[in-house]
Amino acid sequence: MNTNKKNFLVTGGTGFIGSNICRMLLKRGHKVTIFDNNYRGNLNKIYDIKKKITFINGDIRDRKKVFSSLKKINAVIHLAYINGTKYFYTKPDLVLDVAIKGLTNILDGCIDHKIKELYLASSSEVYQEPSEIPTTENIELKIPDIFNPRYSYGGGKIITELMGINYGRKFFKKLVIFRPHNVYGPNMGNEHVIPELLNKIKKLSKRKNKLKIQGTGNETRAFIHINDFVDAFELLIKKGKHLNIYNIGTNFEIKIKELISIMTKISGKKIKIIKSNIRKGGTKRRCPDITKIKKLGFKPKINLQKGINLLKV
Ligand SMILES: NC(=O)c1ccc[n+]([C@@H]2O[C@H](COP(=O)([O-])OP(=O)(O)OC[C@H]3O[C@@H](n4cnc5c(N)ncnc54)[C@H](O)[C@@H]3O)[C@@H](O)[C@H]2O)c1
Repeated sequence: MNTNKKNFLVTGGTGFIGSNICRMLLKRGHKVTIFDNNYRGNLNKIYDIKKKITFINGDIRDRKKVFSSLKKINAVIHLAYINGTKYFYTKPDLVLDVAIKGLTNILDGCIDHKIKELYLASSSEVYQEPSEIPTTENIELKIPDIFNPRYSYGGGKIITELMGINYGRKFFKKLVIFRPHNVYGPNMGNEHVIPELLNKIKKLSKRKNKLKIQGTGNETRAFIHINDFVDAFELLIKKGKHLNIYNIGTNFEIKIKELISIMTKISGKKIKIIKSNIRKGGTKRRCPDITKIKKLGFKPKINLQKGINLLKV
């Protein structure tokens, strides 16, 4: 076997990011097994590669099934997780169950099968309201209020990192953690900032032109197109360093009201923004420092205007 070609297991592989990573892995000649229960993922997202991959329909909390899926695997990309802000508030116990049991099954399964290469998905949510913007990987991680269910998501990711680093030191040769920052693109599902806003704008008309948003519109994010995200991720496979954490995003910080303005220009609609309170625990400003991933050669290519155009509003 060519030593550069590997057998990857991708958990959460029928999801938004996972399906795109799998496409890239296949293009590079790797073999791919997807492990997903399609809770939010969907086989339609991988319709074009379905025949080229092995699909295991399983719950990441099912230890036996996770262990048996790791036979003959050389490297694991662990993405399976409960996403979508509404679930953080309504199903925090499920978010944590999938986060913690999923993680321990993957770590123990890799150790049992002597798999030495593991990529763990974390999130920008580990910073919550960051103390510096752009935010570097080494600033403090926070759970500001243990009683706010929102932090089930970020809390699960902090535990993922803590266990990943400490198990990684002892049992792995290459354990890499990455923190995606607001990834967007086709087939991302509706529970993200960009599709939510686009769908609301689509429904507006001349007479019904009021767009209710969360917050004042002065909140910021930095968005990265999925194609750029996958380029960055490929660099982690080629050059990412053991026990390192990488932000993946862009440093183009934009106010939500400016984002809306890009969308309305494309759609040609005139709208009126109605402000509302930001949900408790929601982040006001978010923008990663991407110096570290840039040092591996990362250059984002798709600016936001172009990326939104590509979504075919
Ligand atoms: N999209 C982003 O902007 C973003 C930002 C920060 C972090 N992340 C992280 O990146 C990873 C991928 O995110 P995504 O945007 O593709 O989300 P997604 O919801 O599209 O993908 C997650 C996948 O996990 C699967 N899953 C959920 N529960 C499962 C279970 N019990 N067993 C097996 N599979 C299960 C879902 O079916 C889904 O296919 C996640 O870990 C997420 O937390 C994403």
